[in-house]
Amino acid sequence: MQVDSRTIETMRKAAAKAAKNAYAPYSRFPVGATVLTSHGEIFAGCNVENASYGLTICAERNAVFQAVAAGKPQIRAIVVVTSSDIPSSPCGACRQVLSEFGRDIEVISFSDRGKVLRAQVSDLLPKPFGHEDLATSSRSKGKAR
Ligand code: THU
Repeated sequence: MQVDSRTIETMRKAAAKAAKNAYAPYSRFPVGATVLTSHGEIFAGCNVENASYGLTICAERNAVFQAVAAGKPQIRAIVVVTSSDIPSSPCGACRQVLSEFGRDIEVISFSDRGKVLRAQVSDLLPKPFGHEDLATSSRSKGKAR
């Protein structure tokens, strides 16, 4: 069942608040994200950059990891807020991480101008690497290489 509009609005506001805490001195592109768990809790994250650029963590993964750290990995939806003209879709790394927790997770992105993008994780990443792939490894079956 799709997440109701009132919950999405609560998530949008919380993500916009988290975006204010973004640490983005290099890109100057603050992002906020909130995940909704099947228990109804909302966890927020922002992007956190680093002088060693590759260590940057996106807002989406930050929010997912907050939920997991709180023992609530049952994720239903994620809302992403940026202050750009067009809504931002999660990057490839975040799609893969979201896919770990549910291929039917709803993704709702908002731009500053109120434009909205809605999709499911399975639309954004149709062929993820998953636990099934690990299960077919000859190593995991105890065979020699
Ligand atoms: N970023 C996110 O937080 N989420 C995305 O989906 C794409 C990009 C961050 C990473 C970096 O701090 C900045 O935005 C510019 O790429």
